[in-house]
Amino acid sequence: MTQDELKKAVGWAALDYVTPCTIVGVGTGSTAAHFIDALASIKHQIEGAVSSSEASTAKLKEYRIPVFDLNEVDQLAVYVDGADEINRQMEMIKGGGAALTREKIIAAVADRFICIADASKQVDVLGNFPLPVEVIPMARAYVSRELVKLGWLPEYRQNVVTDNGNIILDVHNLKIMEPIKLEAAINALPGVVTVGLFAARCADVALIGTPDGVKTIKK
Ligand code: 5RP
Repeated sequence: MTQDELKKAVGWAALDYVTPCTIVGVGTGSTAAHFIDALASIKHQIEGAVSSSEASTAKLKEYRIPVFDLNEVDQLAVYVDGADEINRQMEMIKGGGAALTREKIIAAVADRFICIADASKQVDVLGNFPLPVEVIPMARAYVSRELVKLGWLPEYRQNVVTDNGNIILDVHNLKIMEPIKLEAAINALPGVVTVGLFAARCADVALIGTPDGVKTIKK
């Protein structure tokens, strides 16, 4: 099976976690795009979606799935999204698609975070995938210097402006032994909007696409 077929399998498997007559939290990326395709097949059974990016919003609208502003929504039963890395504790690196801030906000609102990923995303230690940090543009150089002072290697993601008008620094070569602590430390730097570590709010369920089928891991 190709990696995309594994992504498609988990995108469709996530339908089992969608409660009828509710608004569904929808992530961003190629795996989440498969979930949107799947969601379209039951669109008459749901009220609509809240979306974590302009790209996912456009795809939801193509399917004529109603997209709600998160401020109009009191409660979300599930948020379904991909990941760049996920460890055994269900902590994740996300933001390869630069949508980390909206993803983290929707994940915070949702009762359950369903992570959908192909098996290549499973790791023992987070940090091989460059850790994205969304930064207010005027703070780019300051935040970079602070990250270098801490011994890390940030790289400005060229030609990328997030949906919130900010820039992304990718921090390379990390071995993240204490994800919750690191998440708090990076988030505390002035100018940082969000770091793409999802540790304080990790996944509740992971659907992992393998050649032997979709494996379900629960926290
Ligand atoms: C976007 C994300 C994505 O979930 C992550 O990058 C995984 O993407 P894909 O499903 O394309 O492998 O966090 O900001």
